[in-house]
Amino acid sequence: MLYREMGDTDEKVSILGFGCMRLPTDGRYEHIDRKKATSLLDFALESGVNYLDTAYTYHGINLREGGDSELFLGEYLQDKVVREDVYLSTKLPSWLINEKRDLDKYLNSQLKRLKTDYIDFYLLHSVKERNWSHLEEVGVLDFLDAALADGRIRYTGFSSHDNTELFNDVVDAYKWDMCLIQYNYLDENIQVGRKGLKHANSRKMGVAVMEPLKGGVLADYIPEEIAEIWDNAPVQRTPAEWALRYLWNHKEINTVLSGMHNMQHLVENIFTAAEGEPQSLTSQELKIMEEVKKLYKDKIAVECSRCEYCMPCPNGVNIPQCLSYLNQAAMLNDAQNVHTQYHFMLKDDEKADNCLGCGLCEEICTQNIPIREKIKQVKLEF
Ligand SMILES: NC(=O)c1ccc[n+]([C@@H]2O[C@H](COP(=O)([O-])OP(=O)(O)OC[C@H]3O[C@@H](n4cnc5c(N)ncnc54)[C@H](OP(=O)(O)O)[C@@H]3O)[C@@H](O)[C@H]2O)c1
Repeated sequence: MLYREMGDTDEKVSILGFGCMRLPTDGRYEHIDRKKATSLLDFALESGVNYLDTAYTYHGINLREGGDSELFLGEYLQDKVVREDVYLSTKLPSWLINEKRDLDKYLNSQLKRLKTDYIDFYLLHSVKERNWSHLEEVGVLDFLDAALADGRIRYTGFSSHDNTELFNDVVDAYKWDMCLIQYNYLDENIQVGRKGLKHANSRKMGVAVMEPLKGGVLADYIPEEIAEIWDNAPVQRTPAEWALRYLWNHKEINTVLSGMHNMQHLVENIFTAAEGEPQSLTSQELKIMEEVKKLYKDKIAVECSRCEYCMPCPNGVNIPQCLSYLNQAAMLNDAQNVHTQYHFMLKDDEKADNCLGCGLCEEICTQNIPIREKIKQVKLEF
């Protein structure tokens, strides 16, 4: 495993971090399969991964009560790990903060859930235009100062899916140690993007990347034209290897989090990380990736990264899966097969017909997708 310093902190984090938003479950999102998740984390830690990323809400259905991800990690840390051997990162559920005392309430509850005395990297979760000024008003920055001073947290950060302008404002508002941004070779000009990355770097902040494979989209269904480009490349890599190597090629990125819920993905990503030196891709390889980018941009129907923040839908629609079928129909030259899958794999109440257009999903979507409009497209397509 290779390591990089997290910004200006002197902490050496593994370049591959474990994203605990997509742990294996028993079929229900809020029930982590402990046996499988434990084997994955055991293997990751034995292989040198030292950065674990979770959040209060991951693997949760009732968000106010928190999800199973922190609870599982708490058990895991207590039973299996020397606490100082890992960097633990978790996030304050920013959108659940109504008043000042909520800040301490959630942090203290997170420490209990994680069975630890301290969080290494404590992030404000998904800071957005609509919650940032409220967070400032309730005193979030003083709260962070106090939590640093009393040792409940060691470093501060925030995650963002908003635009560069808001991101830069937040960066400039405090002495943050790091940030967590969505970045992958298709998303350099959306959300925080390349400009935000450079700005964070100029402030000596550490940068962790989420959704490096766009939630799996860059590895799961590959349009024929893109498969052909990969096949003809001078080096043979899987699509996931190309995507991860692209990120590690950036010296400004300190760790890349991937949500790995099966051993095959984990092993592959650990192997790929062994070669993840900065500036290690040749100009010819980067040119090939530019071609792939252009093709994807032409083909993709909806920029969903399957983070599942929109779930559960009050009407039962399986939104990420419906949007995934829409993408597959646009990207693959086998529309008939995608249609068959849509009709046979989704239960009737999960299909797009059940959307009542309430729009709750759009309020929380990390990608700002006009979900109602896209679900209408799904109805038409299928
Ligand atoms: N703060 C926030 O707002 C926020 C939002 C999103 C994520 N995050 C954090 O960032 C972490 C990383 O994001 P992410 O989970 O979206 O990462 P990601 O790596 O882009 O997506 C994970 C998915 O990629 C696929 N995958 C992973 N390795 C693969 C491989 N070697 N070959 C083929 N497919 C592979 C799997 O998809 P399939 O299961 O479909 O095969 C997996 O579920 C999260 O787990 C979470 O901790 C934070």
